[in-house]
Amino acid sequence: MKRSHFLRNTVLSLSATLVLAACGGTQEATTTSEDAASGPWLVGTEPAFPPFESQSDSGELVGFDIELIQAIGEQAGVDVEFESLPFDGLIPALQAGTIEAAISGMTITKERSETVDFSRPYFRAGLAIAVDSEDSETTSLENLEGKTIAVQIGTTGAEMAGSIKDAKVTTFDSAPLALQELANGNADAVINDAPATLDAIATGNIPDIKVVGELLTEEFYGIAMPKDSPNREILNAALNELLENGTYDTIYEKWFGTAPVGTLPETAF
Ligand code: ARG
Repeated sequence: MKRSHFLRNTVLSLSATLVLAACGGTQEATTTSEDAASGPWLVGTEPAFPPFESQSDSGELVGFDIELIQAIGEQAGVDVEFESLPFDGLIPALQAGTIEAAISGMTITKERSETVDFSRPYFRAGLAIAVDSEDSETTSLENLEGKTIAVQIGTTGAEMAGSIKDAKVTTFDSAPLALQELANGNADAVINDAPATLDAIATGNIPDIKVVGELLTEEFYGIAMPKDSPNREILNAALNELLENGTYDTIYEKWFGTAPVGTLPETAF
């Protein structure tokens, strides 16, 4: 081979390599941004559950869950939009694929995990009994046998109430409505998530009721997604980042007035 040919061939193959490398680079970048930008995410929530989700006077969604999912979206580079739905309509909407996720103080349960996937736990909660502030007799589940118990439909509190012998369970579309029923003297007790009931008492939203006894359960909230959602890993990675970089703590302190106690487990069970 003549020297000039050798040089020319080398230059040709070199530039071919460069072109290929450039293509490879572009392709990779496209794939990555497509993975991350599979938004916007339409996120379902039942917004009558302060301090997790509620509507401000101007109708805007506010609360711990709302800010957390917005921060997750920001971290993941995905726009987040909200759809208000009844609590017992969230899982059907996920199954029908009309929403990408649901954040609604939703407890990760074995039963729900059969039909939807959850993010890693993002909040530790538990059920509590609320009674009239004058009630000095009710201190535990045993005292609720044969009593009238108000609950929000489709919740873990409703399930717990349903397991009490001879109890008459009355269901409401929201937790505040169930608590109001108790305040009105039409129910003997409410079984609801402790943080939500305590908030209703602390803000004065529901007067003349109190929480009694120990927490009935330990429950972990998760963000629900359709089964095998491609967003699950992206969402979990963003949530983990917020837990590590202090953003989670900042949002927590804003809504609960204290730093979170202890660390969250990586899985609910
Ligand atoms: N943690 C309970 C559950 O998952 C109650 C959640 C109610 N949430 C709401 N936004 N109303 O059943």
